[in-house]
Amino acid sequence: MNTYWSQYVQKTDELYLSRALKFHQGNIDKWIDVMQLHDGTKILEVGCAGGLLCHRLKERLPNADITGLDLDIGHIAYAEKKTEELKLQCNFVAGDAANLPFADNTFDTCYSHTVMNFCDPEKFVSEQYRVLKPNGRIVIMDVYNRGIKPEEWIPGDDCEEKELFDKVWAEASVNPHSQIKRYENRTEKYFAYLAAQGFQNISIDTMATVNYAPDCDNISDGMARAQINDDRITELSSVEKACKMAPNALSAAEYQTLLDMINRRYDKKILQYENGDKNWEFRIATTVLIIGTKPIP
Ligand SMILES: C[S@@+](CC[C@H](N)C(=O)[O-])C[C@H]1O[C@@H](n2cnc3c(N)ncnc32)[C@H](O)[C@@H]1O
Repeated sequence: MNTYWSQYVQKTDELYLSRALKFHQGNIDKWIDVMQLHDGTKILEVGCAGGLLCHRLKERLPNADITGLDLDIGHIAYAEKKTEELKLQCNFVAGDAANLPFADNTFDTCYSHTVMNFCDPEKFVSEQYRVLKPNGRIVIMDVYNRGIKPEEWIPGDDCEEKELFDKVWAEASVNPHSQIKRYENRTEKYFAYLAAQGFQNISIDTMATVNYAPDCDNISDGMARAQINDDRITELSSVEKACKMAPNALSAAEYQTLLDMINRRYDKKILQYENGDKNWEFRIATTVLIIGTKPIP
């Protein structure tokens, strides 16, 4: 167990906000449908981070017994605190996907969202097979993003913001903490791992979600502002993480200048949004779901 992910890769609140936009109350029933989940069943999320999806599911499946597991104890502490605040009943456990701390034949569904390519694929699949009940399902979710971003919002090569950003990341990227261990697990290979483990009825499904389209009329004002600020938080936190890994790369003044420049860009974006000045930027995420069933012996 460690706090590697929340310290160096994605902060827990940053992940929680971005997932709150993806798994929002307006589309959670579609997710439940495509993930083939049912109320009253026992469900495990592997690599749950701050627990947003467990929370959203529990709100809609009040009689489901939902457990989230993650290697990062910072994520788990956050998930537990949030569960109390939301007055929900979900269980969160610090643990390794490669060695799940559960007895054989425990869960009706094990699902994960953007986790498998950070884990040893054979152990990832075989452990979930072991803890699933006969006839239980594994649901592996992975993402492809597409979209347009007007160039005016991308800092150009010759601007100070880009220079400072590149400077800190050039030094941060030689820090071993910046190297996330990824396995050669392209999504198309997941099928073979499921089949090799003995899963049957292996199927594929997809769910497309709008990650970002603040100017569209079907996006509420609150959601539009949250989308813009989600991008702001991601960029600010990228600088913060890089400075943690390369504390001497920028002077205090440069660090502050970089944060101010990012904030100014997003303040301008919010102002444009408020003035009704549309640029129609959008991003769509396509989530692929690969599902298999553990056979009844
Ligand atoms: C890209 S994040 C996705 C988090 C969450 N599923 C979501 O979509 O917000 C990957 C997550 O997997 C967790 N993780 C990585 N390796 C793991 C392992 N061996 N066992 C359990 N969790 C792991 C990380 O701590 C992190 O929370």
